[in-house]
Amino acid sequence: MKALILAGGSGTRLKPITHTIPKQLLPVANKPILFYVLDQIREAGITDVGIIISPETGSYIKEALGDGSRWGSRITYVPQSEPRGLAHAVRTALDFLGDSPFLMFLGDNLVEGGVKSFVQEFDNHSPDALVLLKEVPDPRLFGVAELNGKGKVIHLVEKPKEPKTNLALVGVYLFTTEIHRAIDRIKPSGRGELEITDAIQKLLDMGKDIDSHILAGWWLDTGKKDDLLEANRVVLDSLLKRDVKGEIDSTSKIVGRVEVKEGARVENSTVRGPVSIAEGCRIRNSFIGPFTSIGVGATVEDSSVGHSVILENSSICGIERLEDSLIGTRVELKKADERFKAVKLFVGCDSSLEL
Ligand code: DAU
Repeated sequence: MKALILAGGSGTRLKPITHTIPKQLLPVANKPILFYVLDQIREAGITDVGIIISPETGSYIKEALGDGSRWGSRITYVPQSEPRGLAHAVRTALDFLGDSPFLMFLGDNLVEGGVKSFVQEFDNHSPDALVLLKEVPDPRLFGVAELNGKGKVIHLVEKPKEPKTNLALVGVYLFTTEIHRAIDRIKPSGRGELEITDAIQKLLDMGKDIDSHILAGWWLDTGKKDDLLEANRVVLDSLLKRDVKGEIDSTSKIVGRVEVKEGARVENSTVRGPVSIAEGCRIRNSFIGPFTSIGVGATVEDSSVGHSVILENSSICGIERLEDSLIGTRVELKKADERFKAVKLFVGCDSSLEL
């Protein structure tokens, strides 16, 4: 069994952050999303991993993951020249996949509890494909499945205007080589992409057998700002353990599940978990928490920050209360001189500010 991670695409919905970081490398609880994906693939016993990369962001992904030895895996990078759809990505990876069955994992998705049991289920029952599903409040945003009474998939539609069920296709799929024959028979969708959902529907039309598994735990698709904050909240809430390695001075209070990494320093501040503070951060005269991740080398001074993700080397100074915010790398946010009521900004393209 091989694995194929899709980490191409353009990350349009997370601009401007994705001008410099591929969305699949954005951190959740201070760990890049792709690292969770690779952990889970390894845990499922798969070590031969292909990763689809785009010309724009591929080099960042290669630099972050290297040859995969950190996970005991062997990574093959597969460049996709344009994001022409998930099925197009599979077709692009044909040389890597060969005649092996494979686990396909969208590189911006997080699944609670890993994928080991689905891989085992696929091995034991040998269907032509197995899809993971999750009940969602608004299925129009996803691929949607209809099942028969035995949990077999009978129909699939990509982002339907009028969904027949609330069962969304989670970005984790198991395929046999039959999927390549199905992909050869589909045409680009209305949005101009070769959809994997259409290819799986084609498998059904070809009389193939598709199993499903409905996820009980959480599933997080981190494609937009609020989704990323929600992923950060859920992962901090369910996975973070108290682990204080940095320096905490005697006037600070660390409450609950808080992680303070080596080389970080907290002075005259309160940190209320769940919170992750990365290596080399400086927190002074501030309140942090809950549900907040502060990236490597960031500084927070005379401020209060909650429900937020602050990326590497940014500094927040004199901000009364920062909430529900995603702050990119090397951003400087500071309170203006009280005497002037003007707002002074130096903001890049595609930014979004609420003042
Ligand atoms: O998140 C689950 C949903 O993912 C499913 O419910 C849908 O059926 C499925 O089509 C997909 O929809 P999205 O519109 O959310 O897919 P997105 O364009 O965000 O791409 C998902 C990942 O695949 C992302 O990490 C980028 C990567 N990708 C995407 C395209 C279109 C590629 O590597 N190559 C591509 O050509």
